[in-house]
Amino acid sequence: MTSSDYWDAEMARRYDEGSAAMFAPEVLEPVVDTLAELAGDGAALEFAIGTGRVGIPLLERGVRVHGIELSQPMVDQLREKVDATHLPVTTGDMATTVVDGEFSLVYLVFNSIGNLRTQEEQVTCFRNAARHLAPGGRFVIELWVPGIRRMPPGQNAVPFNVDDRHLGFDTYDVVTQQGTSHHYFRNDDGSVGYGASNFRYIWPAECDLMAQLAGLEFESRAADWHGTPFMADSESHVSVWRKPVDAALPQTERPQRP
Ligand SMILES: C[S@@+](CC[C@H](N)C(=O)[O-])C[C@H]1O[C@@H](n2cnc3c(N)ncnc32)[C@H](O)[C@@H]1O
Repeated sequence: MTSSDYWDAEMARRYDEGSAAMFAPEVLEPVVDTLAELAGDGAALEFAIGTGRVGIPLLERGVRVHGIELSQPMVDQLREKVDATHLPVTTGDMATTVVDGEFSLVYLVFNSIGNLRTQEEQVTCFRNAARHLAPGGRFVIELWVPGIRRMPPGQNAVPFNVDDRHLGFDTYDVVTQQGTSHHYFRNDDGSVGYGASNFRYIWPAECDLMAQLAGLEFESRAADWHGTPFMADSESHVSVWRKPVDAALPQTERPQRP
């Protein structure tokens, strides 16, 4: 059982078109470059692989990729592009689903850790990433920094897109760290559609603590896939944690860390 919203067939059908900007080569290429370099000669596991936006070009770059995805309709969309022999996907919850094999890279992009809406599940997800990693392997997360500094006292909503086709805004509950993204779309016939998705927001420091609980060591944090330094006003981060190289040794044989 997961707290995540389920992405249904209609959401899956609209996903690639609705996220077209995220498929643009100038957006995707630095993501794939970075992930391919981190995977090296090993295999990669994508949590919440969706319709294969990142997994498929990474596969085309020569990296063996396996996916975990909760939504069967999203997997069905992916299957229109690539078969299971080339890109196997296990349907299930990324916090708990275990697949065969050992990976040099586990990655979870496009803010998708937030789909798990409890702290406990998010910690379990970090632990699940760690269990799939070979010693020395890396877990990478791409996540936005919660936009709550943009809210004056008494306000609970922040717009993230306003144009004549789409109005999108997030509402936040700063007590529970729960949020909802609201989308109003104007259709060609003038009618208006509405969709919403729920998330639990986390700060980079909370991610680091989750990684630590999972036995991973902090390696790097940038503001984006180009390696721009992460600063006070950065709106997103790409963070990398590493499973210790000596993680395969029994506890008693590992060098002591301060
Ligand atoms: C924003 S999409 C990202 C898809 C893909 N990684 C990409 O970058 O385009 C979020 C995905 O997370 C999936 N998802 C949500 N909760 C999940 C969970 N608990 N376990 C696995 N997948 C989940 C959704 O079904 C959806 O496909």
